[in-house]
Amino acid sequence: ITFQKAELVISAPDKKSWPDTDLPEVVLAGRSNVGKSSFINTMCGRKKLAYVGNSPGKTRLLNFFNLDDKYMFVDVPGYGYAKISKTQLLKFGQMMEDYFSQRKQKKGMVLLVDARHKPTEDDITMMEFARYYEIPICVVATKMDKVKPSQKHKQLKEIRRVLDMREDEPLFPFSSERKEGMEPIWDYLIPIFES
Ligand code: GTP
Ligand code: MG
Repeated sequence: ITFQKAELVISAPDKKSWPDTDLPEVVLAGRSNVGKSSFINTMCGRKKLAYVGNSPGKTRLLNFFNLDDKYMFVDVPGYGYAKISKTQLLKFGQMMEDYFSQRKQKKGMVLLVDARHKPTEDDITMMEFARYYEIPICVVATKMDKVKPSQKHKQLKEIRRVLDMREDEPLFPFSSERKEGMEPIWDYLIPIFES
């Protein structure tokens, strides 16, 4: 899938700044540094659409990306970042709560986890949060390029187990580095955007 247009509409500090459109939205969630912004770039075939950083905590606000005036990806700050202040943590919680409870355009959530590691308590909480709001969830295991081929199956199985994933919640292996895994994710996301 390719887009003629992929652009950042706004970096929103609070709900007053959410864009006033009817475009369906899929939100990306996951730990800091897991590869959410890279995922957006790779999925959209762009290099610098979303800001990618080497140190965690790069994405601070809700970033809304318009894809061909059809779909919207919402990039969110990563959680689990130790150097965050208590005020910032509360602000993050409020921001996500506002988004999930009030944003009518939300259609689904992609939860990104690092393929090399066990999902954390925060990941489990995020998963339960989205289940509570009854939006479709898929999990993307990022940085698969860093996992030895012989370990891949085991790692994916472990992620499924720790997150207690249901049959209807798919898990996709993915690598931004190698640009692998996009197609099955689009096949899953498009019907969700269009639901
Ligand atoms: P925050 O905005 O801080 O929450 O981070 P993020 O989840 O948006 O992560 P980001 O996309 O900024 O990537 C973090 C780091 O991981 C960068 O150095 C990326 O180059 C690297 N990275 C992202 N995806 C992959 C991948 O698939 N493979 C490898 N090897 N590195 C990746
Ligand atoms: Mg980011």
